[in-house]
Amino acid sequence: MNGNGNQSYSWEKGRGNGEESKNDFRENPHELSNIKKVIAVMSGKGGVGKSAVTSMLAVTMKRLGYNVAILDADVTGPSIPKAFGIKEKATGSEFGIFPQKSKTGIRIMSINLLLENDTDPVIWRGPLLGNTVKQFWTDVIWGDVDFMFIDMPPGTGDVALTVFQSLPIDGIIIVTSPQQLVSMIVSKAVKMAEMMNIPVLGLVENMSYFKCPDNDKEYKVFGESHIDEIAEKHGLKVLANIPIDPKISAACDAGMIELFDGNWFDSFAEGLASQICELEEKQ
Ligand SMILES: Nc1ncnc2c1ncn2[C@@H]1O[C@H](COP(=O)(O)OP(=O)(O)O)[C@@H](O)[C@H]1O
Ligand SMILES: [Mg+2]
Repeated sequence: MNGNGNQSYSWEKGRGNGEESKNDFRENPHELSNIKKVIAVMSGKGGVGKSAVTSMLAVTMKRLGYNVAILDADVTGPSIPKAFGIKEKATGSEFGIFPQKSKTGIRIMSINLLLENDTDPVIWRGPLLGNTVKQFWTDVIWGDVDFMFIDMPPGTGDVALTVFQSLPIDGIIIVTSPQQLVSMIVSKAVKMAEMMNIPVLGLVENMSYFKCPDNDKEYKVFGESHIDEIAEKHGLKVLANIPIDPKISAACDAGMIELFDGNWFDSFAEGLASQICELEEKQ
């Protein structure tokens, strides 16, 4: 956790910094993958817009000109291919599995790209779910990726644990919505990140308010936000407050999230971009 509430992002506790003892479960990526930064997007519960936020973050980084990938780790509720309008299945060769590419070139891997029928439910127990996500890391030929975003399953359960243990996550973003429950849920997620020694890059409050197009007034549909207090309590930053915007859900439904219109993530994205520059200078 960066723990200081200022404007810089801290990756110190991430990969390659003498945390070997914690890396015992780490899996190696495919030999044809070269992935620079891995960011997990998690939420304490489902339906807060984690997948929408993951998608918009990926699109924002892609618009800045980076190579971007999304690993859909929400195996029982995969929604990334739909948001990007990807209908073709993933293909494989003797060397590994190729991710699909979105219209703007974001590489995507999801269980729905492997199932014959994307309405088939995945009725598997934890270990199998976890192994599938691990394989998305080890067996998928991702190529050169600057930023990989992982759409985590909701909560702090079995699969989340497997992902945090097996993949070299550089930072976690926690998505919430403005409800009373949030404080407790965020605390759980923050504690899990601390236990796994992964920095929390900040909080995103989704569905913060609704701006009425008729009078420009902002309505707090889910009640007053407590995100600033929660962030302060944990020494975290609020990265973005995203309004309820029917255009977001319409874009997700139509497979056109790449056309979303909003500058919510711009300053955070620039922060991430500068991290990559620093990384490149060091190399
Ligand atoms: N800010 C928003 N404004 C309007 N609709 C949203 C917003 N964020 C998410 N949605 C919609 O709400 C639903 C749930 O979001 P989703 O990203 O699938 O949640 P999660 O991944 O957390 O379960 C989806 O239909 C999505 O398009
Ligand atoms: Mg989702």
